Amino acid sequence: MKTIEVRTGRSYNIYIEHGIISEAGKYVRAVSDAVRAVVISDSNVAPVYARRVTDSLAGCGFETSLFVFPAGEQSKRLSTIEKMYDFFFEHDLTRSDIIVALGGGVTGDMAGFAAASYLRGIDFVQIPTTLLSQVDSSVGGKTGVDLPGGKNLVGAFWQPRAVLIDPDTLDTLPPVFFSDGMGEVIKYGCIRSSSLFEKLEKENAEDIIDDIIYECVSIKRDVVEHDERDTGERAILNFGHTFGHAIEKLGNYGGLTHGQAVAVGALMLTRITEKKGITESGSAARIEALLKKNGMPTETEFPLSDILAATRGDKKSTGRSLNFIFLSRIGECFINKLPVAEIGSFFDSE
Ligand SMILES: NC(=O)c1ccc[n+]([C@@H]2O[C@H](COP(=O)([O-])OP(=O)(O)OC[C@H]3O[C@@H](n4cnc5c(N)ncnc54)[C@H](O)[C@@H]3O)[C@@H](O)[C@H]2O)c1
Ligand SMILES: [Zn+2]
Repeated sequence: MKTIEVRTGRSYNIYIEHGIISEAGKYVRAVSDAVRAVVISDSNVAPVYARRVTDSLAGCGFETSLFVFPAGEQSKRLSTIEKMYDFFFEHDLTRSDIIVALGGGVTGDMAGFAAASYLRGIDFVQIPTTLLSQVDSSVGGKTGVDLPGGKNLVGAFWQPRAVLIDPDTLDTLPPVFFSDGMGEVIKYGCIRSSSLFEKLEKENAEDIIDDIIYECVSIKRDVVEHDERDTGERAILNFGHTFGHAIEKLGNYGGLTHGQAVAVGALMLTRITEKKGITESGSAARIEALLKKNGMPTETEFPLSDILAATRGDKKSTGRSLNFIFLSRIGECFINKLPVAEIGSFFDSE
């Protein structure tokens, strides 16, 4: 068992342990006196894992019920949240009851947002079941849904009471989602941990997955503790994301997965900053080799000019500047604000 404490507005623990989902009740009871627990899950995860969680909750005295929505990002919208509210009302959920998110990032983001807003906020626990949600989305308190106009446009900061990570759940995760999560894992190595990066170079990710999860969660914890509301340092977690979002958008969200697009974005950016002398030489080649080793793409079909055009429309623009995260070397990065008007010349002049 590995435990990581997150000291945000309200502190909570992240537990990493094989088989922990079958003991979920014990961990939820430790943080909650609730009478009722609503488990929220999607149509892929619920049939495989929900029973273990509801049985364990029932064994610890919770009256449990299960809300299941159709799996996929298309469900991550306000109409699903409204159905959750109706379900909570029908099941007499009170402010002292608890919500349990069992699934990937879509489930966690929505269950968290429903918890943040129902009755002006009730407790919730995260049980992330994808690599991406275990190393990224379940930590840090960002919750929300998409609007037709863009992703994650409505939401709230709402910290869970606990996060239970069971690496065994990854055994059933389709390979494409494993590689999706690996994009974020490699990102953590690039921005904060040359030792994690080196481990990934030497070992197979599947063989050291517990270590990987622990290190990534620790990095994200450190960053969000310093910048819970995402007004400064937390931006470094967006390394590769500015180009990555542009690549996702150009592919109409049907091309590369998010993590793959981020990884390719990180590689493209590092190739350029390396040529400009900003990044230690040899870094891009190491990133490229690591992506190949993990079966991830290293090129995109879109030319840099299209990516830059799509980037200028990125919602992460603050006023007339965009934050780019540059590596100085593997394991170290810094935030570089670029005026939107100078983006073209900065990247074309390489
Ligand atoms: N809140 C944050 O800080 C944050 C950070 C990064 C990403 N996100 C959000 O996370 C979402 C993406 O998360 P995701 O990739 O986990 O998506 P997801 O929740 O849709 O899960 C991906 C797929 O895997 C299936 N699945 C989940 N666990 C499984 C398991 N153990 N076995 C078999 N199948 C399983 C799901 O049903 C789904 O089909 C996006 O909406 C993104 O915006 C949020
Ligand atoms: Zn990401």
